[in-house]
Amino acid sequence: GKVAVLLGGSAAEREISLNSGNAVYQALKAQGVDAVAIDVTGSPIQALADVKVDRVFNVIHGRGGEDGVLQAILQVLGLPYTGSGVMASALSMDKLRTKLCWQGLGLSTPLWFVLKSQTDIDACIAKLGFPVIVKPAQEGSSIGMSKATNRDELVAALQLAKQYLCDVYAEQWVQGQEYTVGVLDGEALPAIRLETPNTFYDFDAKYRANTTKYHCPCGLSAEREQQLQALAVQACQALDVKGWARVDVFIDTNDRSQLIEVNTVPGMTDHSLVPMAAKAVGISFEELVWRILETSMA
Ligand code: DAL
Ligand code: MG
Repeated sequence: GKVAVLLGGSAAEREISLNSGNAVYQALKAQGVDAVAIDVTGSPIQALADVKVDRVFNVIHGRGGEDGVLQAILQVLGLPYTGSGVMASALSMDKLRTKLCWQGLGLSTPLWFVLKSQTDIDACIAKLGFPVIVKPAQEGSSIGMSKATNRDELVAALQLAKQYLCDVYAEQWVQGQEYTVGVLDGEALPAIRLETPNTFYDFDAKYRANTTKYHCPCGLSAEREQQLQALAVQACQALDVKGWARVDVFIDTNDRSQLIEVNTVPGMTDHSLVPMAAKAVGISFEELVWRILETSMA
């Protein structure tokens, strides 16, 4: 059958998605799959009405593509698609509700405080102290995020994050090491440790800087890495995440894992993290793309 690779979209992560989607499209073509790439800038219903396809490989990051909206449309159209369903996509796109789910199950995630307006600043400082990282709850790729080490910075960070028309929260800064764990069809890939000279793994460190270091093998003992992988799988199960995803997690200086978020449509450029982890266990980019496509066939 014919496979539509959905890419682009109109969210803040559009450019990243075009790169991810083109890489996926090329990998499918190289394997003889009858694929068509569709840049969804308007209604996905319209975009899919024009081409007769049998299933969808979704590589649209962020709002409208990763948040359950597109998944609901595909569900109604009766088209099988890669990745998580409606609820898991919506929950995972929302870092606040994700944290509530994990907290409810006793999975560790850094303390946080929801910032509705400037009047919440003092209560936030009283609860979390400094430093904190301020985030729009429903964005991706670190867009709108900044670190605050004092009151003025917290006020500015809230102003910045609010521009993305999301819920905004401050999260306690984790002192420790940052990891990310890809999960493919319920099984964790090797962990990658991220190292950046930037203040945090921000948009620049993710896509522009050549100073970011990716460690895979990640440097943990085999036993500690397995624990981290098991946690990533649990973190996904908590949200009913399916197909594939990437879990971001810190290990703090007390050796405690602290879950940060799940990406249900992770980056898929040929230098992205899930492809890097897959390669470490002998899965080529093309094979990875094929394996993800297969998860849409369940
Ligand atoms: N949100 C970006 C694309 C990622 O998770 O890789
Ligand atoms: Mg994300």
